[in-house]
Amino acid sequence: MIDFRSDTVTKPTKKMRESMMNATVGDDVYQDDPTINKLEALAAKMTGKEAALFVTSGTMGNQLAIMTHTQRGDEIILGSHSHIKTYEVGASAVLSGVSFHLLNETRGKLPIQELKTAIRGEDIHYPNTSLICLENAHGSGVVFGPEYMKKVHELAQQKGVFVHLDGARLFNAATHLKVDLKAITKHVDSVTFCLSKGLASPVGSLLCGTNAFIQKARKYRKMLGGGMRQAGVLAAPGLISLKEMTKRLNDDHKHAQYLADKLNNYDEFDVNFDVLDINMVFTKSSLDFKDLATYLKQQNIIIGGYKGEYLRIAIHNDISKKDIDALLDHIEAYIKKTNSH
Ligand SMILES: Cc1ncc(COP(=O)(O)O)c(C=O)c1O
Repeated sequence: MIDFRSDTVTKPTKKMRESMMNATVGDDVYQDDPTINKLEALAAKMTGKEAALFVTSGTMGNQLAIMTHTQRGDEIILGSHSHIKTYEVGASAVLSGVSFHLLNETRGKLPIQELKTAIRGEDIHYPNTSLICLENAHGSGVVFGPEYMKKVHELAQQKGVFVHLDGARLFNAATHLKVDLKAITKHVDSVTFCLSKGLASPVGSLLCGTNAFIQKARKYRKMLGGGMRQAGVLAAPGLISLKEMTKRLNDDHKHAQYLADKLNNYDEFDVNFDVLDINMVFTKSSLDFKDLATYLKQQNIIIGGYKGEYLRIAIHNDISKKDIDALLDHIEAYIKKTNSH
């Protein structure tokens, strides 16, 4: 099966599987697992933060950040289309007892002027604003630059508010911007990034921040049942993700561009090039997506990352140019078949 649904479907490489087999492990709740310690140290170094924490998922990283930065009853500011608001099962309300002040994103960015007014001053009626959450790369496929993040951080610092970055695809953002990771992460107080998306690890994300922040988050991770004991077997492929897979993301971005160009040549497709910054192609189509997906499945191709009227096609480590050509050939055959009816 060639799977275009998401970059989360990547399978660990042979080298990753071997690293899992050979990983040196210990009890991570005692902070005794050398492989996890190595991964956390490398993540902290790459993001320019004092410390890092290996967590089960991007969701856990984001939710631990919210729990650690806020008090119950606080209000946090984030995008209406952010992952934290839309796809994390309402966890922030359940786990941290915070409410959301939502702002509509413009190309992933929360408008600065609106942010200024959204941060509440002191009033007996108001909740305390304690955190702004950004998302870069944004789930809509766009990346924004460090200059904007600097403005947000400066504003937050003036107002005594923290900034957390959901950087599930942080390395895709850095690759697109052609900058070192730290150029992005220096403008936030904490950041989560995922190993299990474009970086092809089977499991895991990292939460990075100051020593005090990570110490507190570590305790919350234990509370949530995320103390994973001999999880060095999961951290070992993470090291390969950080050292090697980060360097190949540009291939995915180029392949996404290739697919977008070819797909847009068909009258039946209308690719949104405005949001083509990373490895995800968003396209409208006059075709019936569900019927197309059923047809493609018979040809051993899976699509199905629908977002409203858009089909999202994700490129990743298990998708070669040949696979993209196969997808295009089958789409062409499907178009011919439907037109002949
Ligand atoms: C932008 C963003 N943030 C967070 C997550 C959550 O990651 P996980 O699925 O590992 O919980 C995702 C997952 O797709 C994501 O796209």
